[in-house]
Amino acid sequence: MTMRLKDKVCIITGAAGGQGEVAVEIFAKEGAKILATDMNGEPTARLQNALESYPSNIKYVSGDMTEGADLDRVVRETVSSYGHIDVLFNNHGVMVGSPLLETTEEELDLVLRVNVRSSFLLCQKVAKSMVDKGIEGSIILNSSVGGLIGFPDMAAYGASKAGVAQLSRSMANDLRDHKIRVNAVAPGGIDTPMPHKYLEKFEDREAIWKAMEQAHLTGRLGRPEEVVWLVVFLASDEASFMNGSVVTVDGGYSCV
Ligand SMILES: NC(=O)c1ccc[n+]([C@@H]2O[C@H](COP(=O)([O-])OP(=O)(O)OC[C@H]3O[C@@H](n4cnc5c(N)ncnc54)[C@H](O)[C@@H]3O)[C@@H](O)[C@H]2O)c1
Repeated sequence: MTMRLKDKVCIITGAAGGQGEVAVEIFAKEGAKILATDMNGEPTARLQNALESYPSNIKYVSGDMTEGADLDRVVRETVSSYGHIDVLFNNHGVMVGSPLLETTEEELDLVLRVNVRSSFLLCQKVAKSMVDKGIEGSIILNSSVGGLIGFPDMAAYGASKAGVAQLSRSMANDLRDHKIRVNAVAPGGIDTPMPHKYLEKFEDREAIWKAMEQAHLTGRLGRPEEVVWLVVFLASDEASFMNGSVVTVDGGYSCV
């Protein structure tokens, strides 16, 4: 297998989540040196397995990305472990699935604080480190198709993910002179703990899941690795002409 990320120093956030733990596994197989982080104190079994398979190439640091001190620690530990940062996969996120008229201020604040505010600050800190070290790096953010088109019951989440998409485009402009590329991926429904958690409050979970599947041209939700391979490409030198893009990976959800 080609080592597309050989010796690239990569931060992966949300690393204990469905897409994050698969990103850690695939990035490691592609030769990356990884600082994996999540607010979950203990790594998941899959993440633990990756840590044991690549002990010198993956470090796990727990941290809440809404806390400035934790953001600083993640950047500091990456640089002290590996010397610099080449890639950030800003992947952590929360979903609030709630009708507009029932969404609380607390839910709105949470989704904006986690998805937009903490992403802004982490990307800013990582970009500063890249600039200081003269690294022509790549930053990839996890937006959502829900940030590009309207989903029912997702006004707060959709607004936050539209914010992530726009943050990517704007940062790409601001970082152009430093040759740091910024792109976002916009997944459709991906079979991770996130949509299952959303469905917990419904009685007719099976019917809703089937409807979600049918909303994709593929007739199913995506698998985490189907997003991660796109992220690997965007992180790699092969994507040298990709900048400021928001790339859908949604089984055709948004083309109908
Ligand atoms: N699953 C989907 O259908 C879907 C679709 C489009 C976009 N996304 C986005 O993909 C990304 C990954 O989600 P996933 O599908 O793997 O879901 P997930 O819930 O399995 O993973 C999200 C991870 O983010 C972490 N996280 C949340 N808040 C955090 C914080 N404040 N600090 C640090 N970590 C925090 C969680 O602990 C969790 O491990 C998210 O940004 C999500 O919004 C998911």
